[in-house]
Amino acid sequence: MGHRLGRILITQDEISLRVRELGQALARDYQGKDPLLLAVLKGAVVFLADLMRATELPIACDFIGVSSYGASSRTTGVVKITADLSQTIEGRDVLVVEDIIDTGRTVAYLKRNLLTRHPGSLRICALLDKVGRREVEVELDYVGFSIPNEFVVGYGLDYMSLYRNLPYIAVLEPEDGGKLP
Ligand code: PRP
Repeated sequence: MGHRLGRILITQDEISLRVRELGQALARDYQGKDPLLLAVLKGAVVFLADLMRATELPIACDFIGVSSYGASSRTTGVVKITADLSQTIEGRDVLVVEDIIDTGRTVAYLKRNLLTRHPGSLRICALLDKVGRREVEVELDYVGFSIPNEFVVGYGLDYMSLYRNLPYIAVLEPEDGGKLP
């Protein structure tokens, strides 16, 4: 298939420990509130499922679908919403849940878009932060792990729609002189 699974970058145990810590941080920071966890499809779904069970806050969840910007809109950072929220977020404490922040363009766009809907508060929680790839400055409120600039799959992250189901995060390596995006 031109690629193979390489070494495990973050194990299942490391993920589960960190998710538990994030859940405790949310419980502390949102005490007395009922935040809306907003997962960005599709990669963040696995993280959301674990994160929402790592806190006993009365939370709600919703989903938003975005399309990756094409080559032509790379510089403008225009992201298209392909599936919108099922509810209004006016006055709600919204926490955007992402699997990975790369260039930062998707989350920067989402932030701008969601702020026009007047949430009570808006924060970002990302499992992985590929800091070295950042093109747009974005403030992340909760980060699971900072990772090097390698192509990773698993725990929601895919390569050509595969590997989202892996319970750990692994590096994907090209085979036979191939190249990954
Ligand atoms: C990934 C990830 C973020 C975005 C980050 O989604 O879930 O939404 O890319 O990249 P950026 O910081 O460079 O904007 P992807 O487009 O792979 O979709 P998926 O979650 O459905 O796999």
